[in-house]
Amino acid sequence: MEQLDQMRISLASTLEGRTEEPTIETMKEVCKPVGIRAVAIGKENGWQVRQVASKYRNPDHAPANAQERQVIDLFSRHPEINGLWEPAVAEQGAGLNYYRRINVEPSCLACHGTKASRPAFIKDNYPDDKAFDLAVGELRGMYAVHLPEVQAALAAATS
Ligand code: HEC
Repeated sequence: MEQLDQMRISLASTLEGRTEEPTIETMKEVCKPVGIRAVAIGKENGWQVRQVASKYRNPDHAPANAQERQVIDLFSRHPEINGLWEPAVAEQGAGLNYYRRINVEPSCLACHGTKASRPAFIKDNYPDDKAFDLAVGELRGMYAVHLPEVQAALAAATS
């Protein structure tokens, strides 16, 4: 998840200093490939990896259950908590969930800043967008990883 987060940060930083407005092409260079990579990491490892946000842009990233809503709430109230483990919820079956926070950085504001300043392709393609008016340092969302085969003891040892 650290690598995935670094991927987004370095992709977003390539936009810094550009004067032209981000387009559908530059967007493909930031959050969409992070989402695609998240799914691929899950497939490679037998996990499910999602991005989740209460203020989501892509509706696929809305919280899926009460645990996800609770963890987002915890991360937003406690900026010092970076990641945590929880038991899988009933509909997931066995295993554990790992959650890792995603904060807003200055480079994110090109597309997650004020509602009016969002690039046109975002206004056009995401009619239910909630992922704007964010401030640097604020919680943007989280990575949610379901590891169906990890036992609680192992997670305790690695956290
Ligand atoms: C070039 C525009 C752009 C920049 C810059 C950008 N984002 Fe995004 N972001 C998007 C778009 C578009 C989506 C929706 C992608 C999709 O459909 O999966 C998105 C989605 C996300 C999501 C998934 C949850 C959701 O709301 O759908 C997260 C998390 C996220 N962005 C975090 C960040 C962070 C953190 C930064 C800065 C390091 C950043 N973004 C910079 C355009 C951008």
